Amino acid sequence: MKALTVSLFLLARVHSTYSANLTSLVNLFIGTASGANGGSGGNAFPGSAIPHAMAKVGIDVSTSPRQAGYVHDNSTITGVSTLHDEGTGGNTDGGYGNFPLFPFIGTCTNSSGVNNPECEPGIEARAALRAANTDVASPGYFSTTFVSGIQIEMTSTRRAGLIRFTFPASSSRTNYLVVDLTNDLGRSFSGGTMSISPSGHVQLGGTFLQSYGPSNYSTFSCYDFDSTPLQSGTYQSVNSSDPTVFDISLSSTANMSLAFPFTSNVSPIQAGGLVAFNATQVVARFGVSMISSAQACANAEEEVLTTSDGAWDFDGIIAASNEQWEDTLSRVQIDVEKENATVVELLYSSLYRSALVPANFTGENPYWVSEFPFFDAMFCSWDVFRTVHPLLSITSPLQWASIVSAYVDGWRNTGFIPECRANTKPGYVQGGSDGMPILGEFAVKYGAFAEALGVPTDDLYQALVDTAENTPPDWLTVGRQNTAWKMFDFIPTDWVDPSGSVGLPTREASRAYEYALGDFAVRQAGIALNKSLADINKYANRSMNFVNMFNPLITSDGFSGFAQKRFQNGTFIFTNPVTCSPVDPVASSCARGDDNVSGFYESSSWEMSFFAPHSVATLVRLMGGNTTFVERVNNYFAKGYFTAGNEPSFNVPSIYHYAGRPDLSALRIRNVVFTDFSTQIGGIPGNDDSGAMAALLTFHLLGLYPVQASTQFLIGSPFVSGYTLTNDLFNTSTTFTVSGFDSTTLTPTPPSGSRLFVKSVTVNGVDTGSVCTIDFADVVGGGEVVIEVDGDADAAAARGCGPAGLPDSLETGGFVL
Ligand SMILES: *[C@@H]1O[C@H](CO)[C@@H](O)[C@H](O)[C@H]1NC(C)=O
Ligand SMILES: *[C@@H]1O[C@H](CO)[C@@H](O)[C@H](O)[C@H]1NC(C)=O
Ligand SMILES: *[C@@H]1O[C@H](CO)[C@@H](O)[C@H](O)[C@H]1NC(C)=O
Ligand SMILES: *[C@@H]1O[C@H](CO)[C@@H](O)[C@H](O)[C@H]1NC(C)=O
Ligand SMILES: *[C@@H]1O[C@H](CO)[C@@H](O)[C@H](O)[C@H]1NC(C)=O
Ligand SMILES: *[C@@H]1O[C@H](CO)[C@@H](O)[C@H](O)[C@H]1NC(C)=O
Ligand SMILES: *[C@@H]1O[C@H](CO)[C@@H](O)[C@H](O)[C@H]1NC(C)=O
Ligand SMILES: *[C@@H]1O[C@H](CO)[C@@H](O)[C@H](O)[C@H]1NC(C)=O
Ligand SMILES: *[C@@H]1O[C@H](CO)[C@@H](O)[C@H](O)[C@H]1NC(C)=O
Ligand SMILES: *[C@@H]1O[C@H](CO)[C@@H](O)[C@H](O)[C@H]1NC(C)=O
Ligand SMILES: *[C@@H]1O[C@H](CO)[C@@H](O)[C@H](O)[C@H]1NC(C)=O
Ligand SMILES: *[C@@H]1O[C@H](CO)[C@@H](O)[C@H](O)[C@H]1NC(C)=O
Repeated sequence: MKALTVSLFLLARVHSTYSANLTSLVNLFIGTASGANGGSGGNAFPGSAIPHAMAKVGIDVSTSPRQAGYVHDNSTITGVSTLHDEGTGGNTDGGYGNFPLFPFIGTCTNSSGVNNPECEPGIEARAALRAANTDVASPGYFSTTFVSGIQIEMTSTRRAGLIRFTFPASSSRTNYLVVDLTNDLGRSFSGGTMSISPSGHVQLGGTFLQSYGPSNYSTFSCYDFDSTPLQSGTYQSVNSSDPTVFDISLSSTANMSLAFPFTSNVSPIQAGGLVAFNATQVVARFGVSMISSAQACANAEEEVLTTSDGAWDFDGIIAASNEQWEDTLSRVQIDVEKENATVVELLYSSLYRSALVPANFTGENPYWVSEFPFFDAMFCSWDVFRTVHPLLSITSPLQWASIVSAYVDGWRNTGFIPECRANTKPGYVQGGSDGMPILGEFAVKYGAFAEALGVPTDDLYQALVDTAENTPPDWLTVGRQNTAWKMFDFIPTDWVDPSGSVGLPTREASRAYEYALGDFAVRQAGIALNKSLADINKYANRSMNFVNMFNPLITSDGFSGFAQKRFQNGTFIFTNPVTCSPVDPVASSCARGDDNVSGFYESSSWEMSFFAPHSVATLVRLMGGNTTFVERVNNYFAKGYFTAGNEPSFNVPSIYHYAGRPDLSALRIRNVVFTDFSTQIGGIPGNDDSGAMAALLTFHLLGLYPVQASTQFLIGSPFVSGYTLTNDLFNTSTTFTVSGFDSTTLTPTPPSGSRLFVKSVTVNGVDTGSVCTIDFADVVGGGEVVIEVDGDADAAAARGCGPAGLPDSLETGGFVL
């Protein structure tokens, strides 16, 4: 890594003079199509949120899959709720969605004050259709309108916000809001309490199940209304065997409450509050907390500002959210008038989604007292280490440092780097402990500034070493099967840890590849943080053990050598390399469970055998050299083994670089972007996965791809004629100009002769000698990068990577820091 000589005196937020209205370019409905089998419509969250918000307020549909609550179809709506995930797979009913509000017009008591059976606060009966094409979303704002004419609008801050209900003016009946205690998206209520006052002050708390993990969690909320209710009260199922029949109790004078003790079986009962208004517009103020309902109220008081006349400032909150988003989006600036409009929309919509999570839960940590930030929805590190964190590393190191600090604090308080913390609890480990490459990458990019950024480097390093060395008693939700990894130098299939440590022993082959990259991350941090040569060598050596999963004797489509799982005696166990690819001839289980027999997680051996970002030269050698490697990558795409919608595929379109063929990477990436992504609701090939897809698309459009846990980026062919990256620590603006940019390349198959191929790269006028790689120091260095492109395919093939040679691999002496 080149020395970054920027002084910390410059540590200040970049205030751009750029005045383009970038928030207006974000399409929040990309990735909200209805999907099946765990989503694949994208599961993007289109509601209101500030960058990295805890509060994500949006409407919830009645049909699943609905991981983020919302689906852009004609499903009925069951409520508007204030916590959501972004783009996750897992539980198809969705995560969070706690304590929804729901508006209806009706009569819950007749004039004698007796309950009216027409009053139906239950989730099934109340569900309402939206009027066609009334969903509207922009950063910091969401609105929908029911067929009945009731409009719901929302906006939010980090832990609070406003929800505005506008009832049709002609109604002669009463306007009601349900404040639902029990129905989260997963219908997982396990006990809780609610109180409601005649003034409409509502406090709630409950325990629910994680959407992707084995535990329960507690969450709290507080609601107030801007007009005094006619009546308020409670409803609850008369009994658990008929939870859709309700006792309703309304009053204009009495405080009321509900309490359901914790139950280890999810409770089917439905219960909550009812508030009646004669106002035609009612604004609800909400606050959320993971600590207490009192803290939820305090968060609302603190964060929801008022106008000079004392009213809650709905428009002011939208404006404040917009300002934060404008700041986030403006860290990548392009000429939005000049560039291709589709590319502009894809870029800013992707930048938006890649900054929704991890979520800033600072002040909301229920488990330990800490001076350090607390982040949740690290959902999962497996998904986000490849692209989300590398994108943060370029533009947003101040935010990234606090997220990394939260990872380190997880280790500080639990002994291991968190992997899939969600709903404040450890979720399931998918492969390796993929917080490791995140921490390693932070060390190599910002190690020199880490202490000033609030990340103690000795702690960061110890977090990596402990996670690389120690095996937790149960590596289901955190850590790795290190005992086996260290004893065998691979992950054996038929081995039980005599220490009694247990986990889910599937995915042996793909876990080994991820463990190897994790060890490389320790090596990288060791160098960056001046640790011992013994450590550096040890982890470098261990990081090469992915080769031990490679069986040279397996052949598929005429190509030899594939990763396979192994018995402890070293004998390989044959599984078809096509298994778990999109064209798997038999239905196979490719998830975490015991029924996964292939040894690979959400990926085929065809795909996962390409995963060693730290030593791709080793793969090229093992697979038979440059020519065969290129043919093999071509075959992988031609035969449909590429799983565009899932993370293990991310590095393959640009892997031609390692055989000296960046021209083929450029062609392939054009094809992937215009085949698999679009601005439609189905415009993401799989789940957005906490912004992983969004960040991947961002990198493709900018013509960069990060080599994880390193300072190296692979250079692609940008989809815009130029862009400026700003970095909020160094206070730098780096301008990339594509000399000879050719918009006719913006198709799945650029025409012959179109200027797609990178011919030279200069940084501040000096030719770097490489058309394959650029270092982080140059990407954030504040200079002028000129990428010259031309259309001579033969010359591009002959040029290879240029005089500086292939991208780094450990095997060929690369990654010298
Ligand atoms: C940005 O554009 C949107 C939509 O065109 C518009 O409503 C909004 O007022 C604009 N904001 C600013 C600050 O110009
Ligand atoms: C909802 O959309 C589906 C698919 O387009 C259609 O079959 C169905 O009739 C629609 N339902 C309603 C209630 O509009
Ligand atoms: C209110 O409902 C109760 C129970 O159904 C009924 O006995 C009573 O007559 C009703 N009062 C009015 C004014 O409708
Ligand atoms: C989760 O459930 C357990 C019982 O399995 C209970 O003891 C614990 O208090 C619950 N946790 C929360 C946060 O409610
Ligand atoms: C539960 O409530 C329903 C509806 O009122 C009633 O029909 C049923 O008998 C009740 N069951 C029990 C076990 O109380
Ligand atoms: C309701 O509770 C509030 C807060 O505890 C209290 O100030 C108020 O007096 C109570 N009102 C009634 C009618 O009990
Ligand atoms: C309903 O609202 C109107 C106007 O705000 C008010 O004058 C009236 O007293 C309210 N009715 C009740 C029953 O509170
Ligand atoms: C997280 O929230 C804290 C408390 O409001 C704030 O100081 C910090 O800047 C936030 N960090 C990010 C990355 O949003
Ligand atoms: C690195 O560590 C060595 C040995 O511990 C020490 O002598 C040297 O000064 C350190 N260098 C830096 C830059 O901290
Ligand atoms: C290795 O172990 C497996 C499973 O126990 C066994 O089937 C195989 O024969 C063994 N191979 C050798 C070479 O012993
Ligand atoms: C593969 O291609 C690269 C770049 O053209 C070249 O440096 C390298 O020597 C080639 N390797 C072999 C084994 O031919
Ligand atoms: C932008 O590129 C897309 C994809 O090639 C193309 O369909 C579209 O027409 C282009 N838009 C403009 C305004 O040139």
